[in-house]
Amino acid sequence: MTKNSKILQDLHGRNHNYLRISLTERCNLRCTYCMPATGIPLSPKSHIMSFDEIYTIAKTFVKHGVTKIRLTGGEPLARKDAHIILEKLASLPVELAITTNAVTIEKHIDTLKTCGIKHINVSLDSLNAEKFKKITRRNYFEKVYSNILLLIDNGFNVKVNVVLIKDFNDDEIVDFIHLTKTLPINIQFIEFMPFDGNKWDLRKMVSYKTIMETVYKGFLNNDVNRLVDAPNDTSKNYKIKGYKGSFAIISSVTNPFCDSCNRLRLTANGQLKNCLFSSAESDLLTTLREGKSIEPIIKKATHAKFKVRGGMDTLEKLQEPKLHSKNRSMITIGG
Ligand code: GTP
Ligand code: 5AD
Ligand code: SF4
Repeated sequence: MTKNSKILQDLHGRNHNYLRISLTERCNLRCTYCMPATGIPLSPKSHIMSFDEIYTIAKTFVKHGVTKIRLTGGEPLARKDAHIILEKLASLPVELAITTNAVTIEKHIDTLKTCGIKHINVSLDSLNAEKFKKITRRNYFEKVYSNILLLIDNGFNVKVNVVLIKDFNDDEIVDFIHLTKTLPINIQFIEFMPFDGNKWDLRKMVSYKTIMETVYKGFLNNDVNRLVDAPNDTSKNYKIKGYKGSFAIISSVTNPFCDSCNRLRLTANGQLKNCLFSSAESDLLTTLREGKSIEPIIKKATHAKFKVRGGMDTLEKLQEPKLHSKNRSMITIGG
Protein backbone atom coordinates (compact mmCIF):
# COMPACT_ATOMS: atom_id res chain seq x y z
CA MET A 1 0.00 0.00 0.00
CA THR A 2 1.34 3.45 -0.82
CA LYS A 3 0.67 7.04 0.09
CA ASN A 4 -2.92 8.26 -0.29
CA SER A 5 -4.22 4.79 0.33
CA LYS A 6 -8.01 4.83 0.36
CA ILE A 7 -8.36 3.72 3.95
CA LEU A 8 -7.18 7.12 5.20
CA GLN A 9 -9.34 9.12 2.79
CA ASP A 10 -12.73 10.28 4.05
CA LEU A 11 -15.95 10.91 2.15
CA HIS A 12 -15.30 14.67 2.11
CA GLY A 13 -12.12 14.26 0.08
CA ARG A 14 -9.73 14.72 2.99
CA ASN A 15 -6.62 12.59 3.15
CA HIS A 16 -5.30 11.85 6.64
CA ASN A 17 -1.53 11.78 6.84
CA TYR A 18 -1.17 13.03 10.43
CA LEU A 19 -1.68 10.76 13.44
CA ARG A 20 -1.77 12.13 16.99
CA ILE A 21 -1.03 9.45 19.57
CA SER A 22 -1.85 9.95 23.24
CA LEU A 23 0.69 7.99 25.31
CA THR A 24 -0.99 8.29 28.67
CA GLU A 25 -4.09 9.59 30.45
CA ARG A 26 -1.90 10.79 33.33
CA CYS A 27 -0.55 14.27 33.82
CA ASN A 28 1.62 16.07 36.37
CA LEU A 29 -0.55 19.21 36.09
CA ARG A 30 -4.28 19.65 36.72
CA CYS A 31 -5.32 22.34 34.23
CA THR A 32 -8.88 23.38 34.93
CA TYR A 33 -9.88 23.64 31.25
CA CYS A 34 -8.56 20.18 30.46
CA MET A 35 -9.92 17.91 33.17
CA PRO A 36 -12.78 17.86 35.70
CA ALA A 37 -11.90 19.07 39.23
CA THR A 38 -12.78 15.61 40.53
CA GLY A 39 -10.18 14.01 38.23
CA ILE A 40 -10.96 11.25 35.76
CA PRO A 41 -11.28 7.50 36.20
CA LEU A 42 -8.07 6.14 34.69
CA SER A 43 -8.15 3.14 32.39
CA PRO A 44 -6.70 0.02 34.03
CA LYS A 45 -3.02 -0.38 33.09
CA SER A 46 -3.79 -3.51 31.08
CA HIS A 47 -6.05 -1.42 28.81
CA ILE A 48 -3.27 1.02 27.95
CA MET A 49 -1.27 0.33 24.78
CA SER A 50 2.21 -1.10 25.36
CA PHE A 51 5.11 0.41 23.44
CA ASP A 52 5.05 -2.55 21.06
CA GLU A 53 1.35 -2.08 20.41
CA ILE A 54 1.83 1.65 19.78
CA TYR A 55 4.60 0.83 17.33
CA THR A 56 2.56 -1.83 15.52
CA ILE A 57 -0.47 0.43 15.16
CA ALA A 58 1.69 3.38 14.07
CA LYS A 59 3.39 1.19 11.46
CA THR A 60 0.02 0.32 9.96
CA PHE A 61 -0.88 4.01 9.64
CA VAL A 62 2.51 4.79 8.09
CA LYS A 63 2.00 1.98 5.58
CA HIS A 64 -1.19 3.75 4.49
CA GLY A 65 0.32 7.20 4.10
CA VAL A 66 0.80 8.81 7.52
CA THR A 67 3.88 11.06 7.37
CA LYS A 68 3.58 12.91 10.67
CA ILE A 69 3.06 11.63 14.20
CA ARG A 70 2.60 13.90 17.21
CA LEU A 71 2.79 12.42 20.69
CA THR A 72 0.40 13.86 23.26
CA GLY A 73 -1.04 12.89 26.64
CA GLY A 74 -2.09 13.67 29.40
CA GLU A 75 1.56 14.51 29.63
CA PRO A 76 3.40 12.18 27.21
CA LEU A 77 6.67 12.40 29.13
CA ALA A 78 4.93 11.27 32.32
CA ARG A 79 5.04 7.78 30.86
CA LYS A 80 8.09 5.88 32.16
CA ASP A 81 8.82 4.22 28.82
CA ALA A 82 8.36 7.45 26.80
CA HIS A 83 12.01 7.28 25.66
CA ILE A 84 11.51 3.74 24.30
CA ILE A 85 8.37 4.77 22.41
CA LEU A 86 10.17 7.80 20.98
CA GLU A 87 13.08 5.66 19.84
CA LYS A 88 10.81 3.05 18.23
CA LEU A 89 8.68 5.61 16.41
CA ALA A 90 11.81 7.45 15.27
CA SER A 91 12.69 4.39 13.19
CA LEU A 92 9.59 5.01 11.03
CA PRO A 93 9.74 7.37 8.02
CA VAL A 94 7.71 10.14 9.69
CA GLU A 95 8.12 13.62 11.10
CA LEU A 96 7.89 13.10 14.86
CA ALA A 97 6.63 15.88 17.11
CA ILE A 98 5.47 16.20 20.69
CA THR A 99 3.07 18.37 22.71
CA THR A 100 4.12 18.62 26.35
CA ASN A 101 3.78 20.78 29.45
CA ALA A 102 7.62 20.77 29.61
CA VAL A 103 7.67 20.20 33.38
CA THR A 104 10.26 17.41 33.05
CA ILE A 105 11.55 17.99 29.54
CA GLU A 106 15.09 18.82 30.68
CA LYS A 107 15.55 15.08 31.36
CA HIS A 108 14.65 14.19 27.78
CA ILE A 109 16.70 16.59 25.67
CA ASP A 110 19.19 13.96 24.51
CA THR A 111 16.49 11.45 23.56
CA LEU A 112 14.52 14.11 21.71
CA LYS A 113 17.61 15.04 19.73
CA THR A 114 18.61 11.43 18.99
CA CYS A 115 15.09 10.78 17.73
CA GLY A 116 15.30 13.71 15.34
CA ILE A 117 12.43 15.61 16.95
CA LYS A 118 12.44 19.22 15.82
CA HIS A 119 8.99 20.51 16.74
CA ILE A 120 7.91 20.81 20.35
CA ASN A 121 4.67 22.44 21.46
CA VAL A 122 4.57 23.56 25.08
CA SER A 123 1.47 24.55 27.07
CA LEU A 124 1.92 27.75 29.07
CA ASP A 125 -1.19 29.80 29.82
CA SER A 126 0.25 32.63 31.88
CA LEU A 127 3.48 34.54 32.37
CA ASN A 128 2.49 35.18 35.96
CA ALA A 129 3.55 32.48 38.44
CA GLU A 130 0.46 32.92 40.65
CA LYS A 131 -1.93 32.64 37.73
CA PHE A 132 -0.01 29.65 36.40
CA LYS A 133 -0.53 27.97 39.77
CA LYS A 134 -4.20 28.83 39.75
CA ILE A 135 -4.87 27.31 36.33
CA THR A 136 -2.61 24.25 36.62
CA ARG A 137 -3.10 23.72 40.38
CA ARG A 138 0.68 23.19 40.55
CA ASN A 139 3.64 25.48 41.24
CA TYR A 140 5.86 24.88 38.21
CA PHE A 141 5.93 28.22 36.39
CA GLU A 142 9.69 28.83 36.76
CA LYS A 143 10.45 25.28 35.68
CA VAL A 144 8.32 25.46 32.54
CA TYR A 145 9.56 28.90 31.57
CA SER A 146 13.22 27.96 31.98
CA ASN A 147 12.61 24.74 30.07
CA ILE A 148 11.15 26.68 27.15
CA LEU A 149 14.40 28.70 27.05
CA LEU A 150 16.38 25.46 27.29
CA LEU A 151 14.51 24.02 24.29
CA ILE A 152 15.21 27.16 22.26
CA ASP A 153 18.91 27.04 23.24
CA ASN A 154 18.99 23.45 22.04
CA GLY A 155 17.66 24.43 18.63
CA PHE A 156 14.12 23.04 18.81
CA ASN A 157 11.25 24.84 17.05
CA VAL A 158 8.98 25.76 19.92
CA LYS A 159 5.29 26.67 19.81
CA VAL A 160 3.75 27.88 23.05
CA ASN A 161 0.07 27.01 23.53
CA VAL A 162 -2.00 29.58 25.41
CA VAL A 163 -5.64 28.67 26.05
CA LEU A 164 -7.30 32.04 26.58
CA ILE A 165 -9.97 32.39 29.25
CA LYS A 166 -11.88 35.66 29.52
CA ASP A 167 -10.99 37.80 32.53
CA PHE A 168 -8.29 35.35 33.50
CA ASN A 169 -5.38 35.59 31.04
CA ASP A 170 -6.76 37.67 28.15
CA ASP A 171 -4.90 40.66 29.63
CA GLU A 172 -1.64 38.86 28.76
CA ILE A 173 -2.08 38.66 24.98
CA VAL A 174 0.25 41.60 24.29
CA ASP A 175 2.80 40.39 26.88
CA PHE A 176 2.95 36.99 25.21
CA ILE A 177 3.49 38.62 21.82
CA HIS A 178 6.27 40.78 23.30
CA LEU A 179 8.15 37.54 24.03
CA THR A 180 8.41 36.99 20.28
CA LYS A 181 10.48 40.16 19.92
CA THR A 182 13.62 38.33 21.04
CA LEU A 183 12.58 34.68 21.17
CA PRO A 184 12.16 32.64 17.95
CA ILE A 185 8.93 31.01 19.15
CA ASN A 186 5.37 30.83 17.87
CA ILE A 187 2.72 31.74 20.44
CA GLN A 188 -0.57 29.95 19.70
CA PHE A 189 -3.60 31.62 21.25
CA ILE A 190 -6.29 28.97 21.46
CA GLU A 191 -10.03 29.50 21.73
CA PHE A 192 -11.29 27.63 24.79
CA MET A 193 -13.12 24.51 23.57
CA PRO A 194 -15.86 22.41 25.23
CA PHE A 195 -15.11 18.88 26.43
CA ASP A 196 -16.62 16.64 29.05
CA GLY A 197 -16.34 18.14 32.54
CA ASN A 198 -14.39 21.32 31.69
CA LYS A 199 -17.17 23.76 32.66
CA TRP A 200 -17.11 25.35 29.24
CA ASP A 201 -19.17 28.45 28.66
CA LEU A 202 -19.09 30.50 25.48
CA ARG A 203 -18.77 33.63 27.63
CA LYS A 204 -15.41 32.39 28.96
CA MET A 205 -14.03 32.00 25.44
CA VAL A 206 -11.92 34.74 23.84
CA SER A 207 -12.65 34.78 20.12
CA TYR A 208 -10.28 35.19 17.18
CA LYS A 209 -11.93 38.57 16.54
CA THR A 210 -11.40 39.80 20.12
CA ILE A 211 -7.79 38.57 20.13
CA MET A 212 -7.03 40.51 16.96
CA GLU A 213 -8.75 43.64 18.32
CA THR A 214 -6.43 43.42 21.34
CA VAL A 215 -3.42 42.92 19.05
CA TYR A 216 -4.32 45.99 16.99
CA LYS A 217 -4.66 48.04 20.19
CA GLY A 218 -1.22 46.89 21.39
CA PHE A 219 0.77 47.30 18.15
CA LEU A 220 0.87 49.63 15.16
CA ASN A 221 -1.50 48.22 12.53
CA ASN A 222 1.17 48.34 9.84
CA ASP A 223 3.50 46.25 11.99
CA VAL A 224 1.04 43.34 12.29
CA ASN A 225 1.74 41.08 9.32
CA ARG A 226 -0.43 38.14 8.32
CA LEU A 227 1.79 35.17 7.36
CA VAL A 228 1.04 32.42 4.85
CA ASP A 229 -0.23 29.37 6.76
CA ALA A 230 1.01 25.87 5.97
CA PRO A 231 -1.57 23.76 4.04
CA ASN A 232 -2.98 21.81 7.00
CA ASP A 233 -2.38 24.37 9.72
CA THR A 234 -4.93 24.67 12.50
CA SER A 235 -3.66 28.19 13.10
CA LYS A 236 -3.87 31.60 11.46
CA ASN A 237 -0.36 33.00 11.69
CA TYR A 238 0.92 36.54 12.25
CA LYS A 239 4.18 38.29 12.96
CA ILE A 240 5.08 41.70 14.34
CA LYS A 241 7.44 43.45 11.95
CA GLY A 242 11.07 42.99 13.01
CA TYR A 243 10.26 40.41 15.70
CA LYS A 244 12.10 37.09 15.76
CA GLY A 245 9.08 34.95 16.52
CA SER A 246 5.45 34.90 15.46
CA PHE A 247 1.99 34.32 16.89
CA ALA A 248 -1.14 32.52 15.78
CA ILE A 249 -4.79 31.95 16.60
CA ILE A 250 -6.44 28.53 16.77
CA SER A 251 -10.11 29.32 16.29
CA SER A 252 -11.86 25.95 16.51
CA VAL A 253 -14.98 27.56 17.97
CA THR A 254 -15.57 30.68 15.87
CA ASN A 255 -13.72 29.75 12.66
CA PRO A 256 -13.31 26.00 12.31
CA PHE A 257 -10.69 24.82 9.85
CA CYS A 258 -12.08 21.35 9.21
CA ASP A 259 -11.94 21.59 5.39
CA SER A 260 -8.20 21.02 5.50
CA CYS A 261 -8.20 18.51 8.35
CA ASN A 262 -5.61 15.76 7.93
CA ARG A 263 -5.67 14.44 11.51
CA LEU A 264 -6.69 11.22 13.20
CA ARG A 265 -6.23 10.44 16.89
CA LEU A 266 -5.28 7.35 18.81
CA THR A 267 -6.06 7.41 22.53
CA ALA A 268 -3.77 5.82 25.12
CA ASN A 269 -6.22 2.94 25.47
CA GLY A 270 -6.12 2.20 21.79
CA GLN A 271 -9.30 3.87 20.51
CA LEU A 272 -9.25 5.63 17.15
CA LYS A 273 -11.01 9.00 17.10
CA ASN A 274 -11.65 10.42 13.67
CA CYS A 275 -12.07 13.97 15.02
CA LEU A 276 -11.13 15.91 18.14
CA PHE A 277 -14.85 16.47 18.74
CA SER A 278 -16.21 13.07 17.78
CA SER A 279 -17.80 11.04 20.54
CA ALA A 280 -17.56 7.87 18.44
CA GLU A 281 -14.49 5.72 18.99
CA SER A 282 -13.20 2.63 17.23
CA ASP A 283 -11.41 0.00 19.27
CA LEU A 284 -8.12 -0.82 17.53
CA LEU A 285 -6.42 -2.31 20.58
CA THR A 286 -8.85 -5.17 21.22
CA THR A 287 -8.73 -6.18 17.57
CA LEU A 288 -4.93 -6.01 17.55
CA ARG A 289 -4.79 -8.17 20.68
CA GLU A 290 -7.09 -10.69 19.02
CA GLY A 291 -4.50 -10.96 16.26
CA LYS A 292 -6.85 -9.55 13.61
CA SER A 293 -6.26 -6.82 11.06
CA ILE A 294 -7.02 -3.30 12.25
CA GLU A 295 -7.20 -1.94 8.69
CA PRO A 296 -10.95 -2.48 8.14
CA ILE A 297 -11.67 -0.64 11.40
CA ILE A 298 -9.43 2.28 10.43
CA LYS A 299 -11.17 2.50 7.06
CA LYS A 300 -14.66 2.44 8.57
CA ALA A 301 -13.77 5.07 11.19
CA THR A 302 -12.18 7.39 8.64
CA HIS A 303 -15.15 7.07 6.31
CA ALA A 304 -17.51 7.93 9.17
CA LYS A 305 -15.79 11.27 9.82
CA PHE A 306 -18.13 14.27 9.87
CA LYS A 307 -17.36 17.28 7.72
CA VAL A 308 -17.12 19.69 10.66
CA ARG A 309 -16.34 19.23 14.41
CA GLY A 310 -17.69 15.73 14.84
CA GLY A 311 -21.08 16.85 13.52
CA MET A 312 -21.33 19.98 15.72
CA ASP A 313 -21.21 22.18 12.68
CA THR A 314 -22.93 25.21 14.20
CA LEU A 315 -22.11 27.22 17.31
CA GLU A 316 -25.56 26.28 18.65
CA LYS A 317 -24.73 22.56 18.42
CA LEU A 318 -21.30 23.10 19.97
CA GLN A 319 -22.95 24.86 22.90
CA GLU A 320 -25.32 21.94 23.52
CA PRO A 321 -23.93 20.06 26.57
CA LYS A 322 -25.78 16.91 25.48
CA LEU A 323 -23.56 16.89 22.38
CA HIS A 324 -20.11 18.03 23.55
CA SER A 325 -20.27 16.18 26.89
CA LYS A 326 -20.59 12.85 25.09
CA ASN A 327 -16.96 13.35 24.11
CA ARG A 328 -14.07 12.53 26.45
CA SER A 329 -12.27 15.00 28.66
CA MET A 330 -9.37 16.66 26.85
CA ILE A 331 -6.86 14.98 29.17
CA THR A 332 -7.73 11.61 27.63
CA ILE A 333 -7.76 12.89 24.04
CA GLY A 334 -4.51 14.85 23.98
CA GLY A 335 -5.66 17.88 22.00
P1 GTP B 1 0.95 21.11 14.71
O1 GTP B 1 0.10 21.71 13.64
O2 GTP B 1 1.38 19.73 14.45
O3 GTP B 1 2.08 22.00 15.17
O4 GTP B 1 0.05 20.93 15.99
P2 GTP B 1 -1.01 21.83 16.72
O5 GTP B 1 -0.48 23.17 17.08
O6 GTP B 1 -2.30 21.79 15.99
O7 GTP B 1 -1.12 20.89 18.01
P3 GTP B 1 -1.06 21.05 19.57
O8 GTP B 1 -0.99 19.67 20.10
O9 GTP B 1 -0.03 22.01 20.04
O10 GTP B 1 -2.45 21.67 19.88
C1 GTP B 1 -2.71 23.05 19.91
C2 GTP B 1 -4.20 23.28 19.97
O11 GTP B 1 -4.76 22.95 18.73
C3 GTP B 1 -4.88 22.42 21.03
O12 GTP B 1 -5.84 23.16 21.72
C4 GTP B 1 -5.52 21.36 20.21
O13 GTP B 1 -6.66 20.85 20.82
C5 GTP B 1 -5.85 22.09 18.93
N1 GTP B 1 -5.93 21.16 17.83
C6 GTP B 1 -4.97 20.32 17.43
N2 GTP B 1 -5.41 19.58 16.39
C7 GTP B 1 -6.68 19.96 16.16
C8 GTP B 1 -7.68 19.56 15.26
O14 GTP B 1 -7.50 18.67 14.46
N3 GTP B 1 -8.86 20.19 15.32
C9 GTP B 1 -9.12 21.17 16.19
N4 GTP B 1 -10.31 21.73 16.15
N5 GTP B 1 -8.21 21.59 17.07
C10 GTP B 1 -7.02 20.98 17.07
N1 5AD C 1 -9.64 24.13 24.77
C1 5AD C 1 -8.58 24.47 23.99
N2 5AD C 1 -7.36 23.90 24.11
C2 5AD C 1 -7.19 23.00 25.07
N3 5AD C 1 -6.10 22.31 25.46
C3 5AD C 1 -6.45 21.51 26.49
N4 5AD C 1 -7.76 21.69 26.79
C4 5AD C 1 -8.24 22.62 25.94
C5 5AD C 1 -9.51 23.24 25.75
N5 5AD C 1 -10.56 22.92 26.49
C6 5AD C 1 -4.80 22.44 24.83
C7 5AD C 1 -3.65 22.53 25.83
C8 5AD C 1 -2.54 21.76 25.19
C9 5AD C 1 -3.13 21.23 23.91
C10 5AD C 1 -2.76 19.83 23.58
O1 5AD C 1 -4.52 21.30 24.07
O2 5AD C 1 -3.27 23.85 25.99
O3 5AD C 1 -1.45 22.58 24.89
FE1 SF4 D 1 -10.46 17.95 12.08
FE2 SF4 D 1 -12.44 17.58 13.81
FE3 SF4 D 1 -10.48 19.36 14.29
FE4 SF4 D 1 -12.31 19.83 12.41
S1 SF4 D 1 -12.65 19.66 14.61
S2 SF4 D 1 -10.13 20.15 12.23
S3 SF4 D 1 -12.65 17.75 11.59
S4 SF4 D 1 -10.28 17.14 14.14
